[in-house]
Amino acid sequence: MLVEGIGELVTNDPELGEGRLGLLRDAAVAIDGDRVVWAGPAGAAPEGVAGPRLDAAGAAVLPGFVDAHTHLVFAGDRTAEFDARMRGEPYAAGGIRTTVTATRAAGDEALRTNARRLAAEALRGGTTTLEVKSGYGLTVAAEARLLRIAAGITDEVTFLGAHLVPPEHADDPDAYVSLVCGEMLDTCAPLARWCDVFCDLGAFDEDASRRILGAAAARGLGLRLHANQLEHGPGARLAAEVGAASADHLTYLTGDDVDALAGADVVATLLPVADLSTRHPWPDARALLAAGVRVALATDCNPGTSFTTSMPLVVALAVTAMRMTPEEATWSATAGGAAALRRADIGRVAPGALADLVVLDAPSHVHLAYRPGAPIVRSVIRRGTPVL
Ligand code: NIG
Ligand code: FE
Repeated sequence: MLVEGIGELVTNDPELGEGRLGLLRDAAVAIDGDRVVWAGPAGAAPEGVAGPRLDAAGAAVLPGFVDAHTHLVFAGDRTAEFDARMRGEPYAAGGIRTTVTATRAAGDEALRTNARRLAAEALRGGTTTLEVKSGYGLTVAAEARLLRIAAGITDEVTFLGAHLVPPEHADDPDAYVSLVCGEMLDTCAPLARWCDVFCDLGAFDEDASRRILGAAAARGLGLRLHANQLEHGPGARLAAEVGAASADHLTYLTGDDVDALAGADVVATLLPVADLSTRHPWPDARALLAAGVRVALATDCNPGTSFTTSMPLVVALAVTAMRMTPEEATWSATAGGAAALRRADIGRVAPGALADLVVLDAPSHVHLAYRPGAPIVRSVIRRGTPVL
């Protein structure tokens, strides 16, 4: 397949084009099966590419978005909690309990249908790779069930048994941490690639988080953290200490935290819709970028704090509100997400990469921020197959 007539191509490969985005004008991309086999100036396109042609008609094309932080497997509704918050109630981690109760009561089919609906919505918005967490089961069997459902949607599955201490363990939170570190990880580690911990106010403290992450690493899981979302705490420094692939949220950071993340090459995954929907401040993207930290942007899609699947919206907020440049934000929503998942085969349009492409209804990737809220994704190719 040949994608031609590309007005502006974001490759994220500085060897293929200009700057950090590896930008090319008047470009084409050749795809064989699920892989990109060639990307370059239209005039130099390889002869005799078999199969269909897709004419981008002068539009911008970029790698599919990599949304490296979602909680898609859940049941229930938290409209009333959101409504109360918009009337002045603060957000608290305890809201997770509402979703745990509804999720435990839901059948597999209902959970699968809801997760698939959200994944399809994300795909229409240009997201071609999703990370999906458990975390609304909080028993051994319930967490394993959510991980199996997540695996039906993505291969980037994250165990988040340490999302909250469930009500039945409220009197003895240490016993819950021991359960997570023992039987729960024994059952769940084979079903996941990653382990995440909500290290924050009302969730897990530094010692418990360190224990859980250590137990997960011992079973071969990669590590990520929900850190510094609700207050300044130890999460970001702990992410650096344990060599996590990513520390996520990072709304409340000090200069020392930023230096620790930079020193350990932890990707900072920023989730602006969560800050927007909980009326917290914006994370300091500029401080992270100035220190050389690699920044990823993700949706945090979940029913409590960030009920969106839209990566274009996330990019628009990152630029207009968080003061990232369009170039930085486009990179962070594609190559940044890939870095947060330690993946070299996604987040770029270059020979050997998976053929995940987004065609915009716009001449430049800058329109992701310039046209906030507009239906800007025209076509999506995922793993070499046109899906939109
Ligand atoms: O990323 N912070 C922890 N977890 C989610 C919120 C989950 C919920 O409120 O249901 C988040 O914001
Ligand atoms: Fe989250």
